[in-house]
Amino acid sequence: MVSSTTLHLILTLLVTAAFTSTPSAAQRTCASYVNPADIIAAETQFLIDSAFQGFDTPNAVSGRASTPINVYFHVVSQNATVGNVSNAQIKDQMKVLNSAFSDTGLSYVLAGTTRTINSDWFNNAGPDNSQQTAMKKALRHGGKVDLNIYTVGFRSSDTVGLLGYSTFPWEYSSSPTDDGVVVLFSSLPGGSIKNYNLGHTVSHEAGHWVGLYHTFEGGCSGSGDYVSDTPAEASPASGCPSGRDTCTGSSGVDPIHNYMDYSYDSCMSEFTTGQATRMRMQVQTYRGITV
Ligand SMILES: *[C@@H]1O[C@H](CO)[C@@H](O)[C@H](O)[C@H]1NC(C)=O
Ligand SMILES: *[C@@H]1O[C@H](CO)[C@@H](O)[C@H](O)[C@H]1NC(C)=O
Ligand SMILES: [Zn+2]
Repeated sequence: MVSSTTLHLILTLLVTAAFTSTPSAAQRTCASYVNPADIIAAETQFLIDSAFQGFDTPNAVSGRASTPINVYFHVVSQNATVGNVSNAQIKDQMKVLNSAFSDTGLSYVLAGTTRTINSDWFNNAGPDNSQQTAMKKALRHGGKVDLNIYTVGFRSSDTVGLLGYSTFPWEYSSSPTDDGVVVLFSSLPGGSIKNYNLGHTVSHEAGHWVGLYHTFEGGCSGSGDYVSDTPAEASPASGCPSGRDTCTGSSGVDPIHNYMDYSYDSCMSEFTTGQATRMRMQVQTYRGITV
């Protein structure tokens, strides 16, 4: 759940980006926010649930076929032209998504595409609001094993500046219809949003959908993103700040190339082994996907 205060803070940073004529984002902004108390609760429960199901020691990835996950793409557009991303872009997005996950043991297969003209959803759908709830209720397909991706415009004052957001696996049982990823249509490969148009917004949001937090979660102290091989990071990176090191004494420089940071698409190139392990444990535990 995204509190309106948090969203507001995030959006304040983006005001400059919102009113320029060429679309561009000052900073990657993802609204997949979990408050610290809820993270502790979710992680405590995850330890119990994964152990209970025998998934606390996942199988190795290497040498095994990847597990295919069906993807349903829902293109929501303003009108016949604005927002109507092409089938070629969707195909390219699937390639980008699969290349991002190539070392994780998970892969993605396009299983269906829907196209809807709805300017209210296109402009206004956003975290927890009535437009996104109506959109997901009308369009969501499949069950907990299936990834639904919605492309919208994020054009209202409450949503402008967002690149995307996602639900987490452990939320499925209480909110099945809400499950999925919502992204800015122009972030798909070949889209018009400068620095974020190579398709890694979907890679990042799919990372949340399989259970990953941001690399900067928790800052320099505590359990961070609950993955041991992503060095702690005090705050989101932006651009591609080579050598950035915001947590002295942590196990290395900031993971600016990680898909779960906020760098430019061109800067993103990895999920770590620890993240791959966590995502496999998460999808086995909460999505019934065997990997
Ligand atoms: C689509 O909507 C945009 C405004 O967002 C408008 O400029 C354009 O003329 C519309 N196109 C059609 C075909 O209605
Ligand atoms: C939207 O794009 C698709 C794929 O390119 C095309 O088949 C369809 O006719 C377009 N929709 C409209 C309303 O023009
Ligand atoms: Zn995110």
